[in-house]
Amino acid sequence: MAINTNATERTRARYERIAPLYDCIETLAERRHRLWRKRLWSLVEDPRVLEVGVGTGKNMSYYPEGMEITAIDLTPGMLERARKRAKALNVSVDLRLGDVQALDFLDNRFDDAVATFVFCSAPDPLLGLQELERVVKPEGDTYER
Ligand SMILES: C[S@@+](CC[C@H](N)C(=O)[O-])C[C@H]1O[C@@H](n2cnc3c(N)ncnc32)[C@H](O)[C@@H]1O
Repeated sequence: MAINTNATERTRARYERIAPLYDCIETLAERRHRLWRKRLWSLVEDPRVLEVGVGTGKNMSYYPEGMEITAIDLTPGMLERARKRAKALNVSVDLRLGDVQALDFLDNRFDDAVATFVFCSAPDPLLGLQELERVVKPEGDTYER
């Protein structure tokens, strides 16, 4: 399946526009999401984890200690905020620009993958899920909300 580059560019442009406001817009909703994020990350036990669509890094407070976490996002403005959050929280995470529809990783690179509120905005969710299936080991888990 081919990537729809126009739709992907539109998604990137939309998140680039809202990146400066994203955390503010989400303040109320985040009150509900906090407990749920904590619960989700408590289920992740294997050490090598990929987070896709990391956004501004709202999951970082819940990353389990001692894991090797790589996190990607399509949008530079969102990723820039994630970098600031990682620094402020002193969280060790390898942050990269990337598209879940075409991941720049070898097959079976990760034990598990996590995505929160990403596949509602990714232009081709099926392509993204197929990519996660490729880069996560067959016995691994994908946690998605
Ligand atoms: C609604 S935000 C969610 C951010 C974060 N996961 C959270 O829980 O707050 C969606 C994020 O997915 C990213 N995104 C959308 N399409 C993507 C794609 N194809 N590949 C990687 N990230 C993508 C956007 O740039 C945005 O940062």
